[in-house]
Amino acid sequence: MSQPMSQPVSLRDKVCLITGPTQGIGLAATQAIAKLGPKLVLVVRDAKRGRELVEALRIQGNPNVELLVGDLSVQADVRRVAAEFLSRHDRLHLLVNNAGAIFMQRQTSRDGLEMTFALNHLGYFLLTNLLRDVLVQSAPARIVNVASRAHVRGTIAFDDLQATRSYSGWSAYSQSKLANILFTRELARRLQGTGVTCNCLHPGVVSTGFGKNDSGWMRWVVRMAAPFLRSPEQGAATTIFLATSPAVEGVTGAYFSDCKEREPSKEARDPKVAERLWQVSEQLTGLGKDS
Ligand SMILES: NC(=O)c1ccc[n+]([C@@H]2O[C@H](COP(=O)([O-])OP(=O)(O)OC[C@H]3O[C@@H](n4cnc5c(N)ncnc54)[C@H](OP(=O)(O)O)[C@@H]3O)[C@@H](O)[C@H]2O)c1
Repeated sequence: MSQPMSQPVSLRDKVCLITGPTQGIGLAATQAIAKLGPKLVLVVRDAKRGRELVEALRIQGNPNVELLVGDLSVQADVRRVAAEFLSRHDRLHLLVNNAGAIFMQRQTSRDGLEMTFALNHLGYFLLTNLLRDVLVQSAPARIVNVASRAHVRGTIAFDDLQATRSYSGWSAYSQSKLANILFTRELARRLQGTGVTCNCLHPGVVSTGFGKNDSGWMRWVVRMAAPFLRSPEQGAATTIFLATSPAVEGVTGAYFSDCKEREPSKEARDPKVAERLWQVSEQLTGLGKDS
C-alpha cells in the first residue's frame, strides 16, 4: 500500500478530537496522531477502557489526553459530549469521526432509531454540526470521516430509512457508509471558504473489533478472515494521511482509499441525495432547533 510521501503537519498546540479510539482503526490512528504532540480529546463509551488508553498514551509520550464518555448512538450523549468539549476548549483543529459498527440483527437506539443509521451516520452528523462553529473559529481545521467501500452496495432508502419493513445488516451498514460520503460532500460544500476541510475514506478491509459485537455467523466469519485482512495500523494509514498530511491541505469533499483520491459511487456523488439526506438528518436530530 502506498504511504504518504510528505512529513505530517505539526499538531503541537492543536486540539484533536477522535471518536472510537479504544480499538481497531481508531486506536491505531490515535496512537499515531498522539505522537505528533496535540492535545487529544477522546470520545469513548467505556470510561475504564478510556482511562487505560489515556495511561498508555501518556507512557508513549503524550500526557495531553482527556476523555469524554458517551454512547454516540444516543443523541443526548452526543449533545452532552459536545457541550463538555465546548465548556473546556475554544479551539478544535481536527475532528475524526471514526466510531461505527455493523448490526446483523435490527436494533433500535435509545432514540428509537435503527441502530446502524443512528450510530454510523447520525452520530457523525450531530457531533460535527455541534462542533462546527469551533472548527470554523480554529481554521485551518480538518474533519475526517471514516466511511467504507461498502457504500457502493448501498442506497439511501428515503421511503424506509429506519428499515422497518425489512432489515439486512449489510444493507443498513452500506446505507450508513454511503451516508458518510454524502454527508462529507454536503458539509464540504457548506464549509466552502471557511478554511475547514472535510474528507472521507475507505480504510481497506481491516482486522479489528468490527463484526465481533455480533453473536451469530458474522463474528465467526470475521475471526476466520482475520489472518488475510489488513492490520489496524495499515487500516489507519488513510485516516492519518487525511488528518496530518500537507498534501491534502485545502482538499475538501473528497473520498480516499490507500491515501489516494477515488471516485465514489454515482449515488454518493448526487448532490440532490446529499441535500435531502441533510434535511432528513436535521429533522431526526432536531438540529435546526439548536440555533
Ligand atoms: N474494519 C474494517 O474492515 C472497516 C472497513 C471499512 C470501514 N470501517 C469503518 O472503520 C470505523 C472503525 O471501525 P473498526 O473496524 O476499527 O471497528 P472496531 O474495532 O469495532 O472499533 C470501533 C470503535 O467505535 C467505538 N464504538 C462503537 N460503538 C460505539 C458507540 N455506540 N458509541 C461510542 N463509540 C462506539 C468502539 O468502542 P468500543 O471499544 O467500546 O467497542 C471502538 O472504539 C467504522 O466507522 C467502520 O465502519 C471498517
